[in-house]
Amino acid sequence: MQFQFENKSITSIKADIEIIFIIDKNLKHKFIQDNNEFKFFNYKGDSELFLNDKKRLYIGLKSIEYDELRVACAKAFNVLKNLNIKSAKIAIYASKCIKMSVQSIVEGFELSSHTFDKYKSDKKSVTLNKIIFSNDEYNDKKITKDEVEDGISHGLIMAKAVNFTKDIVNEIPEIYTPIKMAEDAKTLAKTLKNVECNVFDESFLKKEKMNAFLAVNRSSTNPPRLIHLIYKPKKPLKRIIFVGKGLTYDSGGLSLKPSDYMVTMKSDKSGAAATLGIIKGASELELPFEIHAILGATENMIGGNSFKPDDVLISRSGVSIEVRNTDAEGRLVLADCLSYAQDFKPDILIDMATLTGACVVGLGEYTSGILGNNDELKYKFKTLIKKSGELATVLDFNAYLSELIKSNIADVSNNASSRYGGSITAGLFLDKFIKDEYKDKWIHLDIAGPAYVEKAWGYNTFGASGAGVRMNLYFMQELAKEI
Ligand code: BES
Ligand code: ZN
Ligand code: ZN
Repeated sequence: MQFQFENKSITSIKADIEIIFIIDKNLKHKFIQDNNEFKFFNYKGDSELFLNDKKRLYIGLKSIEYDELRVACAKAFNVLKNLNIKSAKIAIYASKCIKMSVQSIVEGFELSSHTFDKYKSDKKSVTLNKIIFSNDEYNDKKITKDEVEDGISHGLIMAKAVNFTKDIVNEIPEIYTPIKMAEDAKTLAKTLKNVECNVFDESFLKKEKMNAFLAVNRSSTNPPRLIHLIYKPKKPLKRIIFVGKGLTYDSGGLSLKPSDYMVTMKSDKSGAAATLGIIKGASELELPFEIHAILGATENMIGGNSFKPDDVLISRSGVSIEVRNTDAEGRLVLADCLSYAQDFKPDILIDMATLTGACVVGLGEYTSGILGNNDELKYKFKTLIKKSGELATVLDFNAYLSELIKSNIADVSNNASSRYGGSITAGLFLDKFIKDEYKDKWIHLDIAGPAYVEKAWGYNTFGASGAGVRMNLYFMQELAKEI
């Protein structure tokens, strides 16, 4: 979709339709020119109504918070996509920052218009391809061209980074193998400024003694890849390293998933795919950090050569792991990738993974878990991601849950002795692979809930949501302001 700013009042802009937001119960909206029309608007705070021969679309909002704006744009798009119109005009709605409000509107349209239809014979075409911002502002704020244009360009970067990640996650497991992920990472690096990409195969994993990662791959006909991208601007303020779980398919292995639970497991690569979106967004936004993305890409399959419950794996860091469930494979891949990541001396280390079903049970399908040892960092992260609209909450470790991952025969078990607190015990397992000097610099994000959308919500369409991308791009943007 194309977005543009015309430095004119809304009435003097030509477009097929005008989108009008009705905020709160304030019926004296200045953009409503015809009160007769308006009396038909049945305000419910979340309704939409079309009036005047489809020339105006009214959308109700509870407030003009950034995420409300994104959701309102998704509602507008969902009405407009069924009409044969090409352009829409909209005033600017800002409570605080004009740039951020424009950015949210752009994100709302871009995210909600994304679809995965490459396997559909009958592709639904949408004619709406242009959104025009006028210089009318809801709170009578003075608008500058620069603010609006910055909002447009940043909104497009953010949303395109998310949609890029969605395309990876949505792709089917037959096509989207670890080798394909490595190819995409290489191609991405070539298209971006200041980004390099190195891809490592089994021989490297063997040399590095990444036996936990290798065990997960063992019965897959598709070989694993460790993918390492680095974005390095001039004079970076900090080094931030992202590690992503890249299970291009998770069948559960010998601890095979029941059929109903296996469906959607192409999305078990969401953490790794999000790190790619983050590199894309960070490079395009020219963020002032050195940013690494380390992706552990493999399938978890089943066969005569499968790793087994009862096996003991000696991980890269030397910590021995008793395998009690081959479906708790993500933590095995991450254990070795986190060990590798710490060799690069991160100031902040963030891993992202669709790690546990327990996180979905505990937090619901909309919210990610934030775990780690450092309260200050976890709560700071939660605060700094607010503008992104992604939902995440802190899940605290405790010593009692730590007891549950003890093993009688190895240093740690990959499956807790109780299923209660499963996302926290998974986080505690990862903690075993974090060296003392990085304990306070590490955050684990369990994105199992929001990564894959089976019932569209807000501006998230069916399929992958790109969870983790906006969250971390906004985190770094806000962090840069503080330094
Ligand atoms: N990939 C799954 C977790 C998952 C479940 C992600 C549902 C998205 C939606 C992970 O590898 C897994 O299977 N975890 C097990 C761990 C258990 C065996 C300790 C789980 O959550 O059941
Ligand atoms: Zn699994
Ligand atoms: Zn998994």
